[in-house]
Amino acid sequence: MSKREDSTGGSNSMWGGRFAEGPAAIMREINASIPFDKALWRQDIAASKAHVAMLGAQGIVSAEDSALISGGLDQVAAEYEQQGVPEDWDLEDIHMTTESRLAELIGPAAGRLHTARSRNDQVATDFRLWVRDAMDQADAGLKALQIALVTRAGEHAASIMPGFTHLQTAQPVTLGHHLMAYYEMTARDRSRFADARARADQSPLGAAALAGTGFPIDRQATARALGFAEPTRNSLDSVSDRDFALDYLMAAAQTALHLSRLAEEFIIWASQPFGFVTLPDSLSTGSSIMPQKKNPDAAELVRGHAGRIVGSLTSLMITMKGLPLAYSKDMQDDKPPVFEAAGLLTLCLAAMTGMVAGATFRTDRMRAAAELGYATATDLADWLVRQAGIPFREAHHITGAAVKLAESKGLAIDRLPLSELRAIDERIDERVYDALSAEASVAARASYGGTAPDQVRARVAEARLALGLE
Ligand code: ARG
Repeated sequence: MSKREDSTGGSNSMWGGRFAEGPAAIMREINASIPFDKALWRQDIAASKAHVAMLGAQGIVSAEDSALISGGLDQVAAEYEQQGVPEDWDLEDIHMTTESRLAELIGPAAGRLHTARSRNDQVATDFRLWVRDAMDQADAGLKALQIALVTRAGEHAASIMPGFTHLQTAQPVTLGHHLMAYYEMTARDRSRFADARARADQSPLGAAALAGTGFPIDRQATARALGFAEPTRNSLDSVSDRDFALDYLMAAAQTALHLSRLAEEFIIWASQPFGFVTLPDSLSTGSSIMPQKKNPDAAELVRGHAGRIVGSLTSLMITMKGLPLAYSKDMQDDKPPVFEAAGLLTLCLAAMTGMVAGATFRTDRMRAAAELGYATATDLADWLVRQAGIPFREAHHITGAAVKLAESKGLAIDRLPLSELRAIDERIDERVYDALSAEASVAARASYGGTAPDQVRARVAEARLALGLE
């Protein structure tokens, strides 16, 4: 035997260095969820306290043991609060870590806590509680963003900017109208989280391993104690279901898409050729080589993080798609994507709220840009329909000729002399100029939900009421 082989303790010399303790070490490592599920400790303690209080009330454990266990759980919680949750892979997860510490503190009575439950219903309950809080946090973050949006939209209900389709100048709109579009998106996001929360509002506790339990438990009582509307109705589903986490991730992914689109607009608007916005210094960074640079990094990271949030959704969907009922250990992998997405979503919401609230909108630049690209060409066509009774298709054609002429002369459409417009179509008269300014264009679009400043003000007023700002 060579020295080299000797030093590996006789295990495989190709890969044996990693395996000083044999396969058991890798089993401990792959099995351990404590490095991430310790984030559930508050929920785990709360669910255990609800469970043991119910066990006491039902006479399943004695009143003394119930009180002893409950007090011990408080002590464990206080330790976690002060020192953090210890990470011992041999104890696998937060559930066993807590029970083991409880046993050290109160002795054998700790062993009665796990009566009539399993880690399967325990983790389903803890995780639901955690996700429910994450939903509430997302709603609060979205509401803060909405307040910033309606505040800035109110300031800019009449500030003119070019509206785009295909990122080509289309028609003038107001900045307030543009910002209120994001109010509508975030309103749908909030309603998605609210729907998800309502569906998640059932307690799986008491489903036990998969089949329920023979002990006379009171599932209504534990559901009530944990603030759930009711218990789940099928024990197999209770321990197998992660729809609540997927519902959360779907709502989070949709929200992230909206935030990413808003971030992208800020990135474009902050670029020098646009110059529509100056981002707050507090949410920008400089370049280590180019002294003049002020980069929209926060917005770019929101755009980037949105991809990771969508990735979290994909990850959990793929984890779940092939699993038979009931619990499988694959489901332990449900937590990291949800935790990651929740952390990123909180960050993204805060960053975009700060950006909307703190941006300096360059309304002079926006107004000037609205002059470019024949943004009021549709207004000429509409005028021909309205004033001269010309069918819209024909008016569209006449307007096209006017745009072509203006383009060849390097002029805005409303700078063309009347004689030249009349040469294209003699039904045009001097009143047309009143319709061709950007101000007239937006004011004319007073259909419900249109960009007219009065419409924008009306929508802002409704939104402020809905947000409890009035
Ligand atoms: N740590 C586990 C998880 O997060 C708890 C449930 C374990 N249940 C089991 N039967 N091994 O999924």
